[in-house]
Amino acid sequence: MIDKVIKAANEAGEIIRESFGKNFLVEQKTNLSDLVTEVDKKAEETIINFIRKEFPTHGILAEESGSQKNTSEYLWVVDPLDGTTNFAHGFPIFAVSIGVQKNGETVCGVVYDVMRDEIYSAEKGSGSFRNGQKLKVSTNDDLRKSMLVTGFPYNIAENPDNAFERFIACLKNVRAVRRLGSAALDFCYVAAGAFDAFWEVYLHPWDICAGKLLVEEAGGFVTNFEGGTIDIYSKQILASNNKIHSNMIKLLRVDHKK
Ligand code: IPD
Ligand code: CA
Ligand code: CA
Repeated sequence: MIDKVIKAANEAGEIIRESFGKNFLVEQKTNLSDLVTEVDKKAEETIINFIRKEFPTHGILAEESGSQKNTSEYLWVVDPLDGTTNFAHGFPIFAVSIGVQKNGETVCGVVYDVMRDEIYSAEKGSGSFRNGQKLKVSTNDDLRKSMLVTGFPYNIAENPDNAFERFIACLKNVRAVRRLGSAALDFCYVAAGAFDAFWEVYLHPWDICAGKLLVEEAGGFVTNFEGGTIDIYSKQILASNNKIHSNMIKLLRVDHKK
């Protein structure tokens, strides 16, 4: 199945790459920051057509067209273009993210970094790979020497779940904090050992599904901010190399800092 998932991500990626830097229709969704382009929609349509052809009975949960569930034990969770704001502004960091669940458990995850032409792939129990090369999370156990990554939801102005306080706490206590603008790639770079941890609030299932498996299969750990088990519908994500996880939980505990 993983080869099929990679094929679907590649097909969507080709459409996105061809349109990058050209003229395309951009629309606002919930507010000024929340965009969708005609390229997001075209990429999603391509992936859905692929699934319909190859696996006609499988369910689909896709960002732009919603849920098409049925009785199948399989569910494809699709973000056709993760990093739409970057894409719309001509900044080349964005990805296609596709996870496949069987009876609610993610069994395949693929993130395609379109402009770098890098495929991140994981199958449950078989490790994580970038263009076929095995990935390992970092071995750093010193929070102060960590490089972290985060992102902000489109309703950040309302400060959901104390996002600003948590961001400041991290900035003050670690080596560096980055913000790429693609949650799927944030997970990938934790899996690859570049970032020691990634945290964010209010992500969606299609931002999380593939990336969570990629981190876990590279030896990392993904929980909520209390260390509790999460699924793809969780509103808090903390993904780390495992070694700094408990210190990250302490750092993200904003109520103690008031
Ligand atoms: C967004 C990106 C971004 C994250 C947002 C997501 P989209 O996805 O992953 O990094 O901070 O919360 O919604 O809208 O570009 O698919
Ligand atoms: Ca997304
Ligand atoms: Ca998207």
